[in-house]
Amino acid sequence: MPAPNNANYEVEYVRTLFDEFAPSYHLTGRFSFGLDDTIRRKAIDELQGKPANICDMMSGSGQNWGFIKQRFPKAQITAVDFSTGMNAVAKRDTSIKVLQECATHTTIKDNCIDAVVCSFGIKTMDREQQIAYCHEVLRILKPGGQFVIVEFSKPNGPFRLLYHIYFQLILPLLLFFAGEEFRHQTLLQAYVEAFGNVNHLKVHLENSCQSLHRITYFCGLVTGIKGVK
Ligand SMILES: C[S@@+](CC[C@H](N)C(=O)[O-])C[C@H]1O[C@@H](n2cnc3c(N)ncnc32)[C@H](O)[C@@H]1O
Repeated sequence: MPAPNNANYEVEYVRTLFDEFAPSYHLTGRFSFGLDDTIRRKAIDELQGKPANICDMMSGSGQNWGFIKQRFPKAQITAVDFSTGMNAVAKRDTSIKVLQECATHTTIKDNCIDAVVCSFGIKTMDREQQIAYCHEVLRILKPGGQFVIVEFSKPNGPFRLLYHIYFQLILPLLLFFAGEEFRHQTLLQAYVEAFGNVNHLKVHLENSCQSLHRITYFCGLVTGIKGVK
């Protein structure tokens, strides 16, 4: 898996990648043995209280929506994703407002969202886009609003060996037998390798947050950051 280059982070490139990936994206859970849904649920469980409106940033084909509705049945959900393909696959649910926009510059008004959730969205952004994204999250959140951002990451410590065995030996083998339609999965893994973990985001958020905490799930296989504006 070659490391992504600058062109692989360009908005058009990433949008097209997900447009093509959309029909088979729901199958990615098979390669993580359902871990992705466990993580989505855990991330949503990080939110406190009863947020009246929640923004699902980089919402894909709506993987978080069922979990958000389960936990916060009364919350109004706004979803943001720039991929036509992913939005088309998302279950049409008229109660959810879907904005087909770039997550770094949305049309959502300042200070109007109670909570932002983002699962597995930021690895395909370069550092500059990630910073712009953090500012956007802070811009749309109400003072006192909360956010949680989680992403697959490269673990440190003993789990690192297992990570390498799975992603460098087992996953490529599974994907080889799974066929061409799963080649996007390999690409996503290359983005995770380049992403590392969320540590670098902290500095861009801390000055505007009342509280900020790093999240680690599954020995660092997923890292995240949650905070209150
Ligand atoms: C790996 S998927 C994650 C989808 C979903 N959140 C999940 O839990 O599976 C990443 C999604 O982020 C979207 N995305 C990536 N960069 C974006 C950006 N700059 N603006 C809006 N959407 C973006 C892609 O279109 C894709 O649907």
